[in-house]
Amino acid sequence: MHLVAPSLLAADFGNLQRDIEMLNASEADWLHVDIMDGLFVPNFSIGTPVVQAIRRHAKKPLDIHLMVTDPGRYVSLFKKIGASTLTVHYEACTHLHRCIHQIKESGMKAGVCLNPHTPVHLLEPILPDVDLVLIMSVNPGYGGQSFISGSYDKIRKLNSMKQESGYDFLIEVDGGVDTENAPLLVEAGVNVLVAGNTVFSASDPPETIRQLKNI
Ligand code: DX5
Ligand code: ZN
Repeated sequence: MHLVAPSLLAADFGNLQRDIEMLNASEADWLHVDIMDGLFVPNFSIGTPVVQAIRRHAKKPLDIHLMVTDPGRYVSLFKKIGASTLTVHYEACTHLHRCIHQIKESGMKAGVCLNPHTPVHLLEPILPDVDLVLIMSVNPGYGGQSFISGSYDKIRKLNSMKQESGYDFLIEVDGGVDTENAPLLVEAGVNVLVAGNTVFSASDPPETIRQLKNI
């Protein structure tokens, strides 16, 4: 059974507690939290105090997506805040192996994320070490963009590498996920669907989460 992780980037930040409580009562499995540093991606999102506030209200695991340069600097910070999964970008991390092990040794699940232009075969040496691989299906930095169709092929390739080697990392997809492409993504091998605007722009967000969950 796949997981659904609504992305809080699309929530109403003026009513964050209300939106988190909606997710608490929904079929959502994780809360996806996007951290942007204005350097690795051309945008800022939220910082430590807001993530702490999210942690106080959320009754589900926090899936933190770090879109920051040199993410190894923040491993202990996010452990302290109470993250369950910490995902860093392949493109932002010079010492990826060290960083992934720091995350795991601190007791969080460790994820690695690929931008749309980065091929999955580059992950081969790190795959035995990760708990999760996040495939970006848009260029990171903004919500509400259209899904890049080449992502299906990357997910299929990654899933073959996973099956052939017998690894058990989760495959997560992020960007432009909706109720139309979600069944195809699950079929291609996705284990975790991230959805921002599809959930929060819906007239009935819990029902949309239910649809994404019951594929
Ligand atoms: C984009 C973020 C996503 C974003 C997805 O950089 O990583 O998590 O919130 O938003 P949608 O689902 O609207 O494309
Ligand atoms: Zn994200």
